[in-house]
Amino acid sequence: MWTAKGDLISMENADLGAVRALLREAHKDSYSSSACAGKRVANLFFEDSTRTRVSFALAARSLGAMSIDLVESGSSMSKGESLLDTVWTIESMGFDAIVMRHTDDDAAREIAGKIECPLVNAGSGTMQHPTQALGDALVIGEAFGRTDGWDFGSLRIAIVGDVVSSRVAGSNIDLLVAMGAEVVLVGPEAMVPESFTARGCVIERDFDSVIDQVDVVMMLRVQFERGAGALIGSREAYIRGYQLDQPRAKRMGADAIVMHPGPMNRGVEIDGRVADSGRSRIRAQVGGGVRVRRAVLRYILDK
Ligand code: NCD
Repeated sequence: MWTAKGDLISMENADLGAVRALLREAHKDSYSSSACAGKRVANLFFEDSTRTRVSFALAARSLGAMSIDLVESGSSMSKGESLLDTVWTIESMGFDAIVMRHTDDDAAREIAGKIECPLVNAGSGTMQHPTQALGDALVIGEAFGRTDGWDFGSLRIAIVGDVVSSRVAGSNIDLLVAMGAEVVLVGPEAMVPESFTARGCVIERDFDSVIDQVDVVMMLRVQFERGAGALIGSREAYIRGYQLDQPRAKRMGADAIVMHPGPMNRGVEIDGRVADSGRSRIRAQVGGGVRVRRAVLRYILDK
Protein backbone atom coordinates (compact mmCIF):
# COMPACT_ATOMS: atom_id res chain seq x y z
CA MET A 1 0.00 0.00 0.00
CA TRP A 2 2.70 2.50 0.96
CA THR A 3 5.58 2.60 -1.50
CA ALA A 4 9.13 2.64 -0.12
CA LYS A 5 9.32 6.45 -0.35
CA GLY A 6 5.88 6.87 1.21
CA ASP A 7 3.46 7.29 -1.71
CA LEU A 8 -0.18 6.40 -1.11
CA ILE A 9 -1.76 5.77 -4.50
CA SER A 10 -4.31 2.99 -4.24
CA MET A 11 -6.25 0.65 -1.98
CA GLU A 12 -5.85 -2.18 -4.48
CA ASN A 13 -3.14 -3.73 -2.38
CA ALA A 14 -4.46 -2.57 0.99
CA ASP A 15 -2.10 -3.72 3.73
CA LEU A 16 -4.31 -4.47 6.73
CA GLY A 17 -1.57 -3.80 9.26
CA ALA A 18 -0.90 -0.37 7.76
CA VAL A 19 -4.63 0.37 7.41
CA ARG A 20 -5.33 -0.50 11.03
CA ALA A 21 -2.40 1.61 12.23
CA LEU A 22 -3.79 4.63 10.35
CA LEU A 23 -7.35 4.03 11.55
CA ARG A 24 -6.24 3.63 15.18
CA GLU A 25 -4.33 6.88 14.91
CA ALA A 26 -7.22 8.71 13.22
CA HIS A 27 -9.72 7.35 15.76
CA LYS A 28 -7.59 8.54 18.67
CA ASP A 29 -6.82 11.79 16.86
CA SER A 30 -4.51 13.07 19.54
CA TYR A 31 -1.65 15.05 18.11
CA SER A 32 0.57 17.96 18.88
CA SER A 33 0.04 21.13 16.90
CA SER A 34 3.79 21.20 16.28
CA ALA A 35 4.14 17.52 15.32
CA CYS A 36 5.18 18.40 11.77
CA ALA A 37 6.49 21.92 12.31
CA GLY A 38 8.75 23.07 9.51
CA LYS A 39 7.39 20.55 6.99
CA ARG A 40 5.88 21.66 3.71
CA VAL A 41 2.99 20.06 1.86
CA ALA A 42 1.93 21.05 -1.67
CA ASN A 43 -1.71 20.50 -2.56
CA LEU A 44 -1.95 20.20 -6.36
CA PHE A 45 -5.55 20.02 -7.51
CA PHE A 46 -6.08 19.64 -11.24
CA GLU A 47 -9.77 18.95 -10.73
CA ASP A 48 -12.32 20.73 -8.56
CA SER A 49 -12.69 19.80 -4.93
CA THR A 50 -14.21 21.14 -1.73
CA ARG A 51 -13.85 18.48 0.97
CA THR A 52 -10.63 16.81 -0.06
CA ARG A 53 -8.61 19.95 -0.76
CA VAL A 54 -9.65 21.82 2.35
CA SER A 55 -9.27 18.78 4.58
CA PHE A 56 -5.72 18.06 3.38
CA ALA A 57 -4.82 21.71 3.98
CA LEU A 58 -6.46 21.72 7.40
CA ALA A 59 -4.84 18.40 8.34
CA ALA A 60 -1.36 19.68 7.40
CA ARG A 61 -1.80 23.00 9.19
CA SER A 62 -3.21 21.40 12.32
CA LEU A 63 0.07 19.46 12.62
CA GLY A 64 2.09 22.64 12.28
CA ALA A 65 3.11 21.95 8.67
CA MET A 66 2.86 24.57 5.98
CA SER A 67 0.37 23.81 3.23
CA ILE A 68 0.34 25.51 -0.15
CA ASP A 69 -2.38 25.11 -2.76
CA LEU A 70 -1.99 25.12 -6.52
CA VAL A 71 -5.06 24.76 -8.73
CA GLU A 72 -5.00 24.36 -12.48
CA SER A 73 -6.71 27.60 -13.42
CA GLY A 74 -4.20 30.32 -12.76
CA SER A 75 -1.21 27.96 -12.99
CA SER A 76 1.25 27.84 -15.89
CA MET A 77 -0.56 24.77 -17.19
CA SER A 78 -2.83 27.27 -18.89
CA LYS A 79 0.29 28.34 -20.85
CA GLY A 80 0.88 24.77 -21.97
CA GLU A 81 3.24 23.53 -19.25
CA SER A 82 2.95 19.77 -18.90
CA LEU A 83 1.74 18.10 -15.72
CA LEU A 84 5.17 16.58 -15.08
CA ASP A 85 6.98 19.90 -15.58
CA THR A 86 4.51 21.56 -13.24
CA VAL A 87 5.06 18.94 -10.55
CA TRP A 88 8.85 19.06 -11.00
CA THR A 89 8.72 22.83 -10.62
CA ILE A 90 6.84 22.51 -7.35
CA GLU A 91 9.13 19.72 -6.12
CA SER A 92 12.20 21.87 -6.87
CA MET A 93 10.99 24.46 -4.40
CA GLY A 94 11.47 21.92 -1.64
CA PHE A 95 8.37 20.13 -0.40
CA ASP A 96 8.20 17.16 1.94
CA ALA A 97 4.98 15.77 0.43
CA ILE A 98 2.78 16.38 -2.57
CA VAL A 99 -0.96 15.77 -2.53
CA MET A 100 -2.40 15.53 -6.02
CA ARG A 101 -5.81 15.19 -7.65
CA HIS A 102 -6.07 14.68 -11.39
CA THR A 103 -8.68 13.66 -13.96
CA ASP A 104 -6.44 10.96 -15.51
CA ASP A 105 -6.77 7.46 -14.09
CA ASP A 106 -3.00 6.85 -14.00
CA ALA A 107 -1.65 10.32 -13.30
CA ALA A 108 -0.96 9.78 -9.60
CA ARG A 109 0.97 6.56 -10.10
CA GLU A 110 2.93 7.90 -13.06
CA ILE A 111 3.92 11.17 -11.42
CA ALA A 112 4.81 9.44 -8.14
CA GLY A 113 7.29 7.31 -10.07
CA LYS A 114 9.03 10.39 -11.46
CA ILE A 115 9.54 12.48 -8.32
CA GLU A 116 11.53 11.94 -5.17
CA CYS A 117 9.12 13.26 -2.58
CA PRO A 118 6.13 11.16 -1.49
CA LEU A 119 2.85 11.67 -3.30
CA VAL A 120 -0.63 11.13 -1.87
CA ASN A 121 -3.34 10.46 -4.41
CA ALA A 122 -6.28 12.75 -3.63
CA GLY A 123 -8.39 11.27 -6.43
CA SER A 124 -7.28 9.90 -9.78
CA GLY A 125 -9.85 9.88 -12.60
CA THR A 126 -12.42 7.15 -12.08
CA MET A 127 -10.04 4.75 -10.34
CA GLN A 128 -8.84 5.46 -6.81
CA HIS A 129 -9.32 7.85 -3.91
CA PRO A 130 -7.55 6.08 -1.04
CA THR A 131 -7.97 8.68 1.71
CA GLN A 132 -11.73 8.86 1.07
CA ALA A 133 -11.94 5.09 1.61
CA LEU A 134 -9.87 5.32 4.79
CA GLY A 135 -12.10 8.09 6.14
CA ASP A 136 -15.20 6.07 5.28
CA ALA A 137 -13.76 2.99 7.00
CA LEU A 138 -13.12 5.14 10.08
CA VAL A 139 -16.78 6.22 10.16
CA ILE A 140 -18.06 2.65 9.61
CA GLY A 141 -15.77 1.23 12.31
CA GLU A 142 -16.94 3.88 14.77
CA ALA A 143 -20.62 3.44 13.90
CA PHE A 144 -20.52 -0.34 14.44
CA GLY A 145 -18.09 -0.59 17.36
CA ARG A 146 -15.29 -2.15 15.30
CA THR A 147 -12.57 0.15 16.62
CA ASP A 148 -10.69 -2.57 18.50
CA GLY A 149 -9.68 -4.86 15.68
CA TRP A 150 -10.88 -2.80 12.70
CA ASP A 151 -12.32 -6.03 11.33
CA PHE A 152 -15.49 -5.64 9.25
CA GLY A 153 -16.45 -9.33 9.17
CA SER A 154 -20.28 -9.83 9.10
CA LEU A 155 -20.95 -6.24 7.99
CA ARG A 156 -22.90 -5.94 4.74
CA ILE A 157 -22.28 -2.77 2.82
CA ALA A 158 -24.20 -1.67 -0.27
CA ILE A 159 -22.50 0.76 -2.67
CA VAL A 160 -25.22 2.16 -4.89
CA GLY A 161 -25.27 3.97 -8.22
CA ASP A 162 -22.58 5.23 -10.57
CA VAL A 163 -19.88 2.73 -9.62
CA VAL A 164 -18.03 2.80 -12.98
CA SER A 165 -17.39 6.54 -12.75
CA SER A 166 -16.47 6.52 -9.09
CA ARG A 167 -12.95 6.42 -7.67
CA VAL A 168 -14.61 6.53 -4.24
CA ALA A 169 -16.29 3.21 -5.07
CA GLY A 170 -13.01 1.87 -6.49
CA SER A 171 -11.05 2.48 -3.30
CA ASN A 172 -13.93 1.52 -1.01
CA ILE A 173 -14.48 -1.82 -2.75
CA ASP A 174 -10.81 -2.73 -2.40
CA LEU A 175 -10.51 -1.60 1.21
CA LEU A 176 -13.84 -2.90 2.55
CA VAL A 177 -13.39 -6.33 0.95
CA ALA A 178 -9.88 -6.51 2.44
CA MET A 179 -11.30 -5.62 5.87
CA GLY A 180 -13.73 -8.52 5.67
CA ALA A 181 -17.02 -6.78 4.79
CA GLU A 182 -19.47 -8.19 2.31
CA VAL A 183 -19.76 -5.55 -0.40
CA VAL A 184 -22.90 -5.47 -2.55
CA LEU A 185 -22.82 -3.22 -5.61
CA VAL A 186 -26.24 -2.00 -6.67
CA GLY A 187 -27.09 -0.31 -9.95
CA PRO A 188 -28.00 -0.80 -13.59
CA GLU A 189 -25.61 -2.80 -15.77
CA ALA A 190 -24.24 0.34 -17.46
CA MET A 191 -23.10 1.67 -14.09
CA VAL A 192 -22.25 -1.62 -12.41
CA PRO A 193 -20.81 -3.98 -15.03
CA GLU A 194 -20.53 -7.69 -14.19
CA SER A 195 -16.73 -7.39 -14.33
CA PHE A 196 -16.80 -5.90 -10.81
CA THR A 197 -17.44 -9.37 -9.35
CA ALA A 198 -13.73 -10.03 -9.94
CA ARG A 199 -13.04 -7.47 -7.19
CA GLY A 200 -14.67 -9.70 -4.59
CA CYS A 201 -18.13 -8.14 -4.42
CA VAL A 202 -21.66 -9.23 -5.17
CA ILE A 203 -23.84 -7.40 -7.72
CA GLU A 204 -27.55 -6.76 -7.29
CA ARG A 205 -29.76 -4.94 -9.76
CA ASP A 206 -32.80 -4.55 -7.51
CA PHE A 207 -32.22 -1.92 -4.83
CA ASP A 208 -35.47 -2.82 -3.05
CA SER A 209 -34.33 -6.37 -2.43
CA VAL A 210 -31.11 -5.13 -0.79
CA ILE A 211 -32.20 -2.12 1.23
CA ASP A 212 -33.41 -4.02 4.31
CA GLN A 213 -30.49 -6.47 4.21
CA VAL A 214 -27.49 -4.21 4.73
CA ASP A 215 -25.80 -2.29 7.54
CA VAL A 216 -24.48 0.52 5.37
CA VAL A 217 -26.01 2.15 2.31
CA MET A 218 -23.30 4.16 0.59
CA MET A 219 -24.79 6.29 -2.16
CA LEU A 220 -22.72 7.62 -5.06
CA ARG A 221 -23.13 10.81 -7.01
CA VAL A 222 -24.28 10.39 -10.60
CA GLN A 223 -21.22 11.88 -12.31
CA PHE A 224 -22.87 13.86 -15.09
CA GLU A 225 -19.55 15.53 -15.99
CA ARG A 226 -18.12 12.08 -16.79
CA GLY A 227 -20.99 11.24 -19.12
CA ALA A 228 -23.18 9.39 -16.63
CA GLY A 229 -26.26 11.04 -18.12
CA ALA A 230 -25.91 8.68 -21.06
CA LEU A 231 -25.59 5.68 -18.72
CA ILE A 232 -28.85 6.30 -16.89
CA GLY A 233 -31.10 6.74 -19.90
CA SER A 234 -34.01 8.50 -18.27
CA ARG A 235 -33.49 10.45 -15.09
CA GLU A 236 -36.97 9.54 -13.88
CA ALA A 237 -36.35 5.82 -14.34
CA TYR A 238 -33.03 6.10 -12.50
CA ILE A 239 -34.66 7.90 -9.60
CA ARG A 240 -37.41 5.27 -9.45
CA GLY A 241 -34.92 2.41 -9.45
CA TYR A 242 -31.97 3.74 -7.47
CA GLN A 243 -32.68 6.89 -5.48
CA LEU A 244 -32.38 6.48 -1.73
CA ASP A 245 -35.76 8.02 -1.02
CA GLN A 246 -37.76 8.10 2.19
CA PRO A 247 -39.76 4.89 1.59
CA ARG A 248 -36.52 2.96 1.00
CA ALA A 249 -34.80 4.58 3.99
CA LYS A 250 -37.74 3.52 6.18
CA ARG A 251 -37.09 -0.10 5.26
CA MET A 252 -33.48 0.00 6.46
CA GLY A 253 -32.47 -1.97 9.56
CA ALA A 254 -32.77 -0.18 12.90
CA ASP A 255 -29.02 0.55 13.18
CA ALA A 256 -28.21 0.83 9.50
CA ILE A 257 -26.50 4.01 8.33
CA VAL A 258 -26.52 6.16 5.20
CA MET A 259 -23.29 7.43 3.64
CA HIS A 260 -22.41 9.61 0.65
CA PRO A 261 -18.91 10.97 -0.11
CA GLY A 262 -20.32 14.25 -1.40
CA PRO A 263 -20.87 16.34 -3.36
CA MET A 264 -24.53 15.22 -3.44
CA ASN A 265 -27.08 15.69 -6.15
CA ARG A 266 -30.02 16.08 -3.80
CA GLY A 267 -33.12 14.80 -5.53
CA VAL A 268 -31.16 12.53 -7.89
CA GLU A 269 -29.32 9.72 -6.10
CA ILE A 270 -30.56 10.73 -2.65
CA ASP A 271 -33.59 12.51 -1.21
CA GLY A 272 -32.31 15.50 0.77
CA ARG A 273 -34.47 14.52 3.74
CA VAL A 274 -32.69 11.17 3.98
CA ALA A 275 -29.31 12.90 3.71
CA ASP A 276 -30.30 15.10 6.65
CA SER A 277 -31.90 12.33 8.73
CA GLY A 278 -30.63 10.70 11.91
CA ARG A 279 -29.27 7.73 9.95
CA SER A 280 -27.01 9.87 7.87
CA ARG A 281 -23.27 9.82 8.55
CA ILE A 282 -22.53 12.16 5.65
CA ARG A 283 -21.23 14.99 7.78
CA ALA A 284 -19.31 12.55 9.96
CA GLN A 285 -17.56 11.40 6.77
CA VAL A 286 -16.23 14.92 6.27
CA GLY A 287 -14.77 15.00 9.78
CA GLY A 288 -13.42 11.46 9.33
CA GLY A 289 -11.68 12.65 6.18
CA VAL A 290 -9.78 15.31 8.11
CA ARG A 291 -8.72 12.89 10.86
CA VAL A 292 -7.54 10.24 8.44
CA ARG A 293 -5.63 12.76 6.31
CA ARG A 294 -3.94 13.99 9.47
CA ALA A 295 -2.83 10.41 10.20
CA VAL A 296 -1.64 9.91 6.61
CA LEU A 297 0.34 13.16 6.49
CA ARG A 298 1.83 12.52 9.88
CA TYR A 299 3.03 9.08 8.81
CA ILE A 300 4.64 10.50 5.68
CA LEU A 301 6.15 13.61 7.26
CA ASP A 302 7.58 11.60 10.18
CA LYS A 303 9.35 9.21 7.86
C1 NCD B 1 -15.69 12.61 -4.66
C2 NCD B 1 -14.53 12.77 -5.57
O1 NCD B 1 -14.20 13.88 -5.98
O2 NCD B 1 -13.95 11.76 -5.85
N1 NCD B 1 -15.81 13.43 -3.62
C3 NCD B 1 -14.92 13.43 -2.58
O3 NCD B 1 -13.73 13.46 -2.77
N2 NCD B 1 -15.44 13.37 -1.35
C4 NCD B 1 -16.89 12.06 -5.25
C5 NCD B 1 -17.54 12.73 -6.41
O4 NCD B 1 -16.95 13.52 -7.13
O5 NCD B 1 -18.70 12.40 -6.61
